[in-house]
Formats: sequence, structure tokens, C-alpha cells
Amino acid sequence: MINIAVLVSGGGTNLQALIDAQQAGRIENGRIALVVSSNPDAFALERAAKADIPTAVLRRKAFDTADAYAGALDALLREKGIGLVVLAGFMTVLPDSFCRAWENRIINVHPSLIPSFCGEGFYGLHVHEAALAKGVKVTGATVHFVSEVVDGGAIIAQKAVEVEEGDTPETLQRRVMEQAEWILLPQAVSDFCAGRLTVNGAWVSRK
Ligand code: GAR
Repeated sequence: MINIAVLVSGGGTNLQALIDAQQAGRIENGRIALVVSSNPDAFALERAAKADIPTAVLRRKAFDTADAYAGALDALLREKGIGLVVLAGFMTVLPDSFCRAWENRIINVHPSLIPSFCGEGFYGLHVHEAALAKGVKVTGATVHFVSEVVDGGAIIAQKAVEVEEGDTPETLQRRVMEQAEWILLPQAVSDFCAGRLTVNGAWVSRK
């Protein structure tokens, strides 16, 4: 059984999708053992508490450097025997040292079809604002392993979602979550824990 840590910063709807999947028996060989929030006021913490999942708050501001922050996070994850780290709306960029130490053991969900609308500055609603400003007809979500390059790690799964006439960033965000993120992320986490994913350079195969 793989112990999963879910890192959050906000509303935590992706965390909720993981909790729901776990409660429905859809996370094979994995269990959410810890939720870490970078924000003490994140609603995600309430979702975790309601599901009886242990929580911790690690604020970036409480540390002088990104490396000191990542060192504390690393120590916490090791203490809890974590085997998979899931970034579910986690808004703090983790330093290279952390990404290397946890190579192929960190999964992120991003609300666009990478390599569109990704990288530094593209997070949360900003991603959907950029997609609408460009006028794309199709967007979506990507679940990928985390590397030192922001949103640049090997892609596990992607799903396209239609943009509709009159969409606002909020309506588009909601559709991308419902039709892509909340489906892809629990599936990828289950695939990882069940040992179904193999990484070959940029390509991830699913057995
Ligand atoms: C989600 O749309 C997630 O894909 C995005 O933030 C939102 C968090 O919502 N993540 C990023 O933009 C990371 N670059 P949630 O807290 O309700 O899961």
C-alpha cells in the first residue's frame, strides 16, 4: 500500500475527487495518508479533516529560502512514509533539489493541455483567462510527473474540453474540472499506486 500525500493551497476540489475515489475503492493500492497545505485558511484542510485525514500546514513565508521550505516538507513526507506526492492546486513552486529527490514520485494536475498555457505565472484562473484571451476552441487538463521544469515533466494523461461561446474564466474552469481534472487525477494516482505507469524519457506508458 502506497502512502499518498496531497499538497494543496486552496479550495481542494481535486483533493475531494481523490477522497471520493478512495471512499469508492477506486484508488488501487494507495491511501491518502497526509494533506499538506501552504495556506492555513485553505478550505481543502476542512475537506481533509472531514475525511479523517491528518493535515499539516507549511507556509512558505515561515522559511527564509525555498530550499529550507523544501527541506521541512521533505522531512515531513519521509517521517510519514510517503511514496507518492500529489500536487492538487498547490501554488508554491518546489525547488530543483526537491524535484530531483522525488523524481517520478510527484504528480501534478494542470488545467490546460500542456504545452499550451503552462509554466511560470500560469496557475488557477489565470490559465483559463489566457485560454479565453487567445480564443482557443478546445482546452483541457493534463496530469504529469513533476520535473525541475515548471509544468515540463512527463505527461501521464490529458483530456480535451470544449470552450463555449460566452465562457468566463470561472465557467471554463468549472467545466475543465468536471470533465477532465476530477476524472484524470484519481485515475493517474490509482495507476501509479498499482504500479501501472512506466516513464521512458518524455513518454509514460500505462500497462
Ligand atoms: C485546479 O484547477 C488545478 O488544476 C490548478 O488549480 C486549481 C486548484 O483547484 N492548478 C494549477 O494551476 C497548477 N499550476 P482545487 O484547489 O479546487 O483543486
